[in-house]
Amino acid sequence: MCGIVGAVSGSEVAPVLVDALKRLEYRGYDSAGLATYAGSLSVSKGVGRMETLDEALGLSGMEGRAGVGHTRWATHGKPSEGNAHPHTDCDGDLAVVHNGIVENYAELREGLEERGHVFSSYTDTEVVPHLLEERLDGSLEHALRETVSELEGSFAICAVGEDGLVAARNGSPLVIGLSDDANFVASDVPAILPYTRRVKYLLDGEMAVIKRDSVEVRDFDGEPVEREEEVVEWDAEEAERGGYEHYMLKEIHEQPRALAECMGGRLDELMGEVDPGVALDRDGMEVLEGVEFVGCGTSYHAALYGARLTGEFTGLPVNARHASEYRYGPVSGKNILTVGITQSGETADTLRAIERAGDEGHAVLVLTNVVGSTATRMTDDVVYLRSGPEIGVAASKTFTNQLACVAMLAIALGRESGDLPRSEAKHLIAELRDMPSKVQRVLDEVEDVESVAESYVDSEAFFFIGRGVDYPVAMEGALKMKEISYVHSEGYPAGELKHGPLALITRRTPVVAVLTSSPLYEKTLSSAKEVEARDGPVIAVASESDEDTGRFCEEVLRVPDADHRLSPLLSTVVMQLFAYHVARELGRPIDRPRNLAKSVTVE
Ligand code: M6R
Repeated sequence: MCGIVGAVSGSEVAPVLVDALKRLEYRGYDSAGLATYAGSLSVSKGVGRMETLDEALGLSGMEGRAGVGHTRWATHGKPSEGNAHPHTDCDGDLAVVHNGIVENYAELREGLEERGHVFSSYTDTEVVPHLLEERLDGSLEHALRETVSELEGSFAICAVGEDGLVAARNGSPLVIGLSDDANFVASDVPAILPYTRRVKYLLDGEMAVIKRDSVEVRDFDGEPVEREEEVVEWDAEEAERGGYEHYMLKEIHEQPRALAECMGGRLDELMGEVDPGVALDRDGMEVLEGVEFVGCGTSYHAALYGARLTGEFTGLPVNARHASEYRYGPVSGKNILTVGITQSGETADTLRAIERAGDEGHAVLVLTNVVGSTATRMTDDVVYLRSGPEIGVAASKTFTNQLACVAMLAIALGRESGDLPRSEAKHLIAELRDMPSKVQRVLDEVEDVESVAESYVDSEAFFFIGRGVDYPVAMEGALKMKEISYVHSEGYPAGELKHGPLALITRRTPVVAVLTSSPLYEKTLSSAKEVEARDGPVIAVASESDEDTGRFCEEVLRVPDADHRLSPLLSTVVMQLFAYHVARELGRPIDRPRNLAKSVTVE
């Protein structure tokens, strides 16, 4: 995700802003920029990494004791100098940096253009300086308050101009740093650690007016907020991990926000429609004979889930294929939509599969997290996961966003094909909207998972079982466990257990069973009972309201009730935490497991 810094100081701020931006490099970015104010605004930005940008950003001429800086991870508009932040108003008097997504930017931009504003980027952010410009009558704080009331979505915004530095938060973090000769604002503590450890955290719905010698915090109604000052005890490395022990744990905990960003602006609950991020052509839908999902590893599990939902919502023949097999195996039909799933956009097997699908005359859609990656250059139809950079080798937040994206795609295809009634789509969309807060509730119960993980850390092997949409969750649970704990793990469709693997069940081979409410619940419960009857411990992932599972299974981990077709987004978080805590107990190098790489660019 993007990084924000801002400072008001007794001396020049440009060197401080550049230094602070460098401290956010670990988050990943594709472009960067800064703006300072000294009677007039100076702006400098460019594409690439800070070390190559240093010269391009050229601090000479960047005068001013107040300024903002930004590292961008593209979500709207490709990485380019024009799309890099800060963005300015028509007069070039004020500059804005922004994290998050302005969901209603298209409509706001249309209105602003009608009123004569000229835009120079493809970003959602650029509406903000133009809205500020219209509302500016002497007080930047007042203009920002009026502006945020018009924005839908999540944001952290910082603006600098003649009137100083102001910031607002709604759904994207911001921290204020306090020192004797300067005050700061940043999206992340590491940016400002060399300058101060005294901080105040802004909460959602709050704004700050930052001056050299004072910081005022108010809510969006203008009421003053008393916020305690805190002292950050973390060292720089801990701060990069947001205080978490590992990047993977941080990324697991980022899932509510990442999911909200993924779905932001894509769901229309009122109309029961989803905008999956690409135009689905109605004529094309009429001749569509099938949908194939391809991917590797975790992305293959998202493919399995996507295929299952798409089959159910469209009635079309669907398939999930390992990308590494797709290239060399038989390929069906001509009027096929092939969906290539790859968080990195660089996995060689998946790139070759996408290429093959194109050669066969299929319509190709790519689902990826990385703007500008190779996969995005292979087709015009790209859906971005909007997870932000994922540093842990084991996929976590990119997987949940893949699940959300394929669910949205399946709903959109179901509506276009006429097979999914509007009322059903509305229900599913409402359920999707609730997912970020439900995932948060799963994360809030982390202690339960941790203590169960501790009890089974000496296991010889783990089995993970599930049926229907829960089968991909079981597969992913097993992959997470083997990747980061090195304990042998297998994922199976629950019904397959009795066809062989049951021979391996002992007291030391726990079975993790996805037993959330679903029409197949009783069937999976039977498989769980077969395990318990052979002395194998069953760790069930069950719905909050379910009273039965606990009577038959040794351990029960709870997730909030949800429509069974979407509850994989919840169960999978339990699986991630379970694998994480087993691996942690075993002292494994969780973020960098042996023999694995974040993106596998060889076949
Ligand atoms: O970048 P991709 O999604 O194409 O990567 C595919 C797999 O290599 C990846 O999912 C791998 O299985 C991860 N390490 C899973 O945690």
